[in-house]
Order: sequence, then structure tokens, then C-alpha cells
Amino acid sequence: MSGDLSVGIHDLSFSTTQFVLTHQTLAAHNGTDVGKYHAGIGQRAMSVPAADEDIVTMAAAAAAPIVARHGADRIRTIVFATETSVDQAKAAGIHVHSLLGMPSATRVVELKQACYGGTAALQFAVGLIHRDPSQQVLVIAADVSKYELDNPGEATQGAAAVAMLVGADPALVRIEEPSGVFTADIMDFWRPNYRATALVDGRESITAYLQAVQGAWKDYTEQGGRALGEFSAFCYHQPFTKMAYKAHRHLLQVCGQEIDEERIAREIGLTTSYNAEIGNSYTAAVYLGLAALLDQADDLTGRAVGFLSYGSGSVAEFFGGTVVPGYRERLRSESHRAAISRRQPITYARYRELHEHAFPVDGGHHPVPTETTGPYRLAALSGHKRIYEPRQSGLAHR
Ligand code: COA
Repeated sequence: MSGDLSVGIHDLSFSTTQFVLTHQTLAAHNGTDVGKYHAGIGQRAMSVPAADEDIVTMAAAAAAPIVARHGADRIRTIVFATETSVDQAKAAGIHVHSLLGMPSATRVVELKQACYGGTAALQFAVGLIHRDPSQQVLVIAADVSKYELDNPGEATQGAAAVAMLVGADPALVRIEEPSGVFTADIMDFWRPNYRATALVDGRESITAYLQAVQGAWKDYTEQGGRALGEFSAFCYHQPFTKMAYKAHRHLLQVCGQEIDEERIAREIGLTTSYNAEIGNSYTAAVYLGLAALLDQADDLTGRAVGFLSYGSGSVAEFFGGTVVPGYRERLRSESHRAAISRRQPITYARYRELHEHAFPVDGGHHPVPTETTGPYRLAALSGHKRIYEPRQSGLAHR
């Protein structure tokens, strides 16, 4: 690795869905005390994709402003992390590459390890930049989290895409070495290829997450990482926002520190506001935490932020980042807030209909009515091919 080279997140943009189901509406349907959702798991609402939205349309919407601001000439790699892939062979990033009209001299690949995949993509991107600092990597983390109706996981559903431009001399966050890594073979959450909804042992997944926090932190310290007190804030993976609090409490305990709820709120609080409104976006969730922190904190210039990325199964990584001077001028806070507030609330019945929507698998031409007001849409499934198009022009891109 090139010694003093500064590499990290140069730009970050996210998108979410057309529709939103509030936990108030869900609670009114299933008779749950809404306090369990609001206070118990820390969730207010969940993003619900329209029938003409998926990980590709969200990813293209997230990445388009980045390509518009920086151009695509230096982006020679797109790494797309997801656990809700739309094809078993073709990388979803190729559809995004096409929708955004990016140069053919690009490598595109898809990565998977549950909710950890976005961090793997980011770390691999950092490695590529160290090899050639003149290049940039577009990292995309996009997911639609979906559990069976009336399952305890249902209240933690959500959907979003985060796009990050990774390069040398980053404008937002410098990614530091070392990383602390951890893997354990655990079946806490998984989705066999034949299922549209994930299987989860909720309690087991919380225990596995906490075990992974401990393991990743242990390795981080053994690798010569920073002391806990050096971090101003921590971005945790948030399957539901209360999990970040549980995880941070556990980390303080592991480090032999007092459980001071005010300190925990100060170090975690700002990272949860987007996730509480969007729900679990799997690979994107930890970076929605970063977006919420950067968009809302007073001034983090020169401060260290800790990242804990967890993916069931399970893999975790702890690493640090330093916020770069001038970062506030490059934030997209207004468009991030607009992505959340533009969503249209839906009834429980409409949510259920969308939840159960599935394309026929007969290879016929199955157009999808226009529902989204986002910039890209899934226009049809035709001959087993997903047909995407920019919403305004109506031109089909395959
Ligand atoms: N007011 C306030 N809090 C309430 C409440 C009420 N009326 N009713 C329940 N709660 C609290 C509970 O005490 C509990 O808090 P705790 O975890 O701090 O003890 C919390 O709300 C959840 O209640 P619980 O009974 O455990 O909910 P559940 O059986 O429906 O399961 C999950 C919750 C998170 C396990 C479930 O949503 C799930 O399986 N999620 C998917 C997997 C996941 O997110 N895994 C995380 C690691 S990746």
C-alpha cells in the first residue's frame, strides 16, 4: 500500500422508494402497541418499493447525482453490493452502468455477504485506489428487505440504495487502516435461492451480532487500532435502530467502560434518524447511518468515526474513518431529506398487495404500470429479461 496516500469516500448519495408504510398503520392493522415499534425497536416507518422499482432503479437514482457532479471518466470499476439480487448471473450494476450511460471501459461486479457486502465493496475499492490513485470506484449498496407477512421481522422491512464514490484525496471521509474482522458460521438469517422472503431467528441474530461486535473489536485492537475514546461517533449496521444502541452498550461493556446512556446517545443518536424512517436496507444501512451523521452533526472536521458493519451468517468488520476539512460543502443533505419526505404514504391493503406482487415466470411480455416518480423504472419483464428505462424519456435500456 502507498504509505501516506489518503483514500476514502469522496461523495455519497442515497435514494429510497416511492411509497412508505408507517408503523402507526402497521400497528393499527395487527393490534400491536405502537410503542413496541417506536420505542422498542426504534422504527417509525418503512420504505416500500412500487412494482416498477427495485435495487437497480434505486441504485441508478442514488448514483446519477454522483456521475453528474464528477463525470464517469475516472470511474473504472463499479462494485454493487446486495443480498436482494435480481439475477443469479448478471451483475445488477451493469443495468446501472447502462442507465447512466457510463463508458464501456469499466469493470462491473456484484458482491454478497448479507448486510456486510457494502463494506466489503468499500474496502475492495480502497485497495484498488491504492493500486492506481488516478482511478475512482463507484460503490453501490442497495437492498429491499422483505420478511413474511405477520412475521416479527416484518416491522423491520425497508429499502434504499447508497452510492459512494471512492477515490484518493476524498472530500468526505478518509478510510483508515487497520480493520478488525470476524467470521463465524451461524444460521441467524438467510434466504435460500427459492425464497423471496428471508428466514430469520431474531433473537439468535441479535446474539450473533453482539458476538461479532466483540470479535471484530478484539481483532481491531490487536491490529493496532485506535482507543475507543478517540472516536466521536459510531456508525453501526442498523437492522432496526435500537440495535445500534444494544451494540454500542455491548462494546462499552467489552472495553470495561461505564454504561453511560447520555454518552451512548451522543455517540449514536444522529446516525439513526434516516434508518428509523426507511427501515432495514441491509447493505446500505450502515452508510445511511453515516449520511445521517454527516448531514446533521454540527462540525465533525478532523474527528474520527467508528464503523461496525455486520452481515448475518456471519461476518463483521470494525474500522475507523476521519472526517475531512471542507466536507460540509459537499454534502447532499437537502436531497437526502427530500428522498425521505417525497415518499407517498400507503394503506395496509396497498402494502400487502405490493408485498405479494410477483412476476409470472412464463417468459411472456409483462409490462409494469408507471407508479414511481423517481428517475428510473422497471418497465417490464419480457422474455425473462428485466427492461429498465429512464422515467422521463421512455427510452428502454436493456
Ligand atoms: N413499548 C415499548 N417497548 C416495547 C413494547 C412496548 N409496548 N413492547 C415490546 N417492547 C420492546 C421489547 O422489550 C424489546 O426490547 P429489548 O430488545 O430491548 O428487550 C423490543 O421492544 C422488541 O420486542 P420483542 O418482543 O423482542 O419483539 P419481537 O419478538 O417482535 O422481535 C426482532 C424483534 C428485532 C427480533 C424482530 O423484529 C426480528 O426478528 N427482526 C429481524 C432480524 C433482525 O433484525 N436481526 C437483528 C440483527 S441483524
